Amino acid sequence: MLPLDRYPKEITLRDGACVTFRPMVREDVAPLWDFFKRISPEDRMYLREDVAKRVEVERWARDLDYDAVLPILAFCGGFVVGDATLHRNRTGWKQRVGTVRILISPDFRHRGLGTAMIRELRHLGEKASLHYLLAEVIEEQQAAVRAFEKLGFERMSVLRNYVNDQKGNLHNLVVLLYPMSDADEEVLY
Ligand SMILES: CC(C)(COP(=O)(O)OP(=O)(O)OC[C@H]1O[C@@H](n2cnc3c(N)ncnc32)[C@H](O)[C@@H]1OP(=O)(O)O)[C@@H](O)C(=O)NCCC(=O)NCCS
Repeated sequence: MLPLDRYPKEITLRDGACVTFRPMVREDVAPLWDFFKRISPEDRMYLREDVAKRVEVERWARDLDYDAVLPILAFCGGFVVGDATLHRNRTGWKQRVGTVRILISPDFRHRGLGTAMIRELRHLGEKASLHYLLAEVIEEQQAAVRAFEKLGFERMSVLRNYVNDQKGNLHNLVVLLYPMSDADEEVLY
């Protein structure tokens, strides 16, 4: 079980702004939708899912299942300013591998929020006894590659023309991996 009693969690960014982290709940559709509307078309184009549709956000809220996908939202003054998700597999051979995704509001970038949210996901990954965290980033998203590398994720491979953006153009995908402290453990069950 993940330690959700640590939320809401207050953090102070390096410029003094206060931000609150907490898991997304069903009632968050409106603020989350408002957050996605503030993301630039360029950034949206690189996102894995089409966040331009409110029905998508409504579907996420309706189908929330923290054991499969745990979305942590960052709030400031009632607005969502960051969204970080930890994706896990309950069955199969990747039960010890978590996938992380992160998106920060344009007006909150370069203020340390992305780093704080990746740290938060790393902490949750440890508590979930994961052995690896995986991040997949389109090569052009250099800020994301650097943000993950800064926190110890290693660039494992670059898959050429592996993914298409929402306009259908192909891009290289950078696969980054973070080994957790007990990744050498041999027995799973
Ligand atoms: C990547 C992203 C999450 C970073 O968030 P952020 O809040 O700006 O991150 P931080 O302020 O904590 O910066 C973390 C590091 O990223 C790097 N970085 C941030 N912005 C950068 C930029 N424009 N260019 C290059 N490197 C950058 C820096 O190394 C920075 O560390 P430093 O401040 O100590 O130099 C944010 O830019 C974003 O949401 N991008 C679009 C979505 C995306 O690419 N997601 C990744 C796919 S999972």
